[in-house]
Amino acid sequence: MKIESVRGMNDLLPEASAKWHRVESAARRTFAAFGYREVRTPIIESTELFVRSVGETTDIVEKETYTFTDRNGKSLTLRPEGTAGIVRAYIESNRHTVEPVSKWFYVGPMYRHERPQKGRYREFFQIGAEAFGSDDPWIDAEQLALVAEILAAVKTPGVELRLNSLGCATCRPLYRATLTRFLDGVADRLCGDCQRRSATNPLRTLDCKNPGCIEATASAPTTIEVLCDACRIHFAGVQAGLADSGVSFVLEPRIVRGLDYYTHTTFEFVATLGDVGAQNTVCGGGRYDGLVAALGGPAVPGVGFAFGIERLVSLIADDDADKQTPLIFFATMGDAAARFAHRALATLRRTSIAAECDYGTKSLKAQLRRAGALGAIFVAIVGDTEVGRNVVQLKNMASGEQTEVDVSSGLDALRARLTDTAHL
Ligand code: HAM
Repeated sequence: MKIESVRGMNDLLPEASAKWHRVESAARRTFAAFGYREVRTPIIESTELFVRSVGETTDIVEKETYTFTDRNGKSLTLRPEGTAGIVRAYIESNRHTVEPVSKWFYVGPMYRHERPQKGRYREFFQIGAEAFGSDDPWIDAEQLALVAEILAAVKTPGVELRLNSLGCATCRPLYRATLTRFLDGVADRLCGDCQRRSATNPLRTLDCKNPGCIEATASAPTTIEVLCDACRIHFAGVQAGLADSGVSFVLEPRIVRGLDYYTHTTFEFVATLGDVGAQNTVCGGGRYDGLVAALGGPAVPGVGFAFGIERLVSLIADDDADKQTPLIFFATMGDAAARFAHRALATLRRTSIAAECDYGTKSLKAQLRRAGALGAIFVAIVGDTEVGRNVVQLKNMASGEQTEVDVSSGLDALRARLTDTAHL
């Protein structure tokens, strides 16, 4: 019986990986320009970490985690997101004693047992960043500019930044109470989940996708209306920073996010063009000033975001940059020619020139077919005569033109031809 992949989990095959590589390279370049450094944390963490950070009453922790007991009876969870593990690592490494501000990024798989559909998977990859140590609104704005820069670098038109502020420990309880009163008034129009959430986690009702709930909460009070003075000033600072960075945005008071750790700024980058389906949020994040302390660390503020790589890749077009590096293919006839080609491949590959030959004994015609399928720019044809005279017959696959190249004093001539065509 054939064994199939796990539902909601995908293979990335070679044809598709070039775009992923382009996205990751653009992100890495941009992170470097903005002073962010890479961290890698484990995929498996203590279940407790996510319960205390993402939140016990969130959909993620209530219904979506992959949780299991290990052989020592400890409850472990495959990370559903990156922030919690990064915060744990920040605390565990005592990083706040090393530097006042830490700007970190990460790339890796996350796991959520959601109902799979286009753009929503059970294993998906995120590129994310977290900045610890400052509550300056400029750092929020700078991060949003960083996201905008990555989107521009991979050419994704029509992605809109939607911005909100969720307030702080001072004004959030007031908002919660105001919202709960409003929800009590429309309780009979809410879905079962939202009726329950009205008591446990009322902000989550604003994120419900049920059309009845969207309608019932359309005139719900917004956080922005009840922000305290400090939050209002912070939010104005973020908007000023965005103006300074030339990043446009729209205010969206319904962005409450699906994780409980947020305070102040929250945001989502939403694709408004193209065939992205219902899962059109490419990137989400915000500030979490109480999270480091809540997980046992110092009172250090933080802000971060994460892109879904699958969703970002689905938005970008093919690009010349995805083309493979120029390839030279050695087509050989006879054992001596094959050995000659093997030595040439070893020399060329050592200098990062892509060079290939076929495996096993094949006809010249079959080898040329293979060279074509691999997209070779040149084929070096070698038989006994060529080996004897230390030359190759170099065929340009695009023009069909064939010239003899002397390789008696090395392969520089071949290398030069390939480098010449590198821009093709
Ligand atoms: P999130 O909004 O849960 O935030 O996820 C961030 C992004 O990951 C989403 O905007 C989406 O592009 C992608 N994503 C989420 N779930 C799936 C899925 N099932 N399939 C495919 N893509 C998905 C976080 O995870 C926060 N940790 C972001 C953050 C960092 N906040 C502060 N720092």
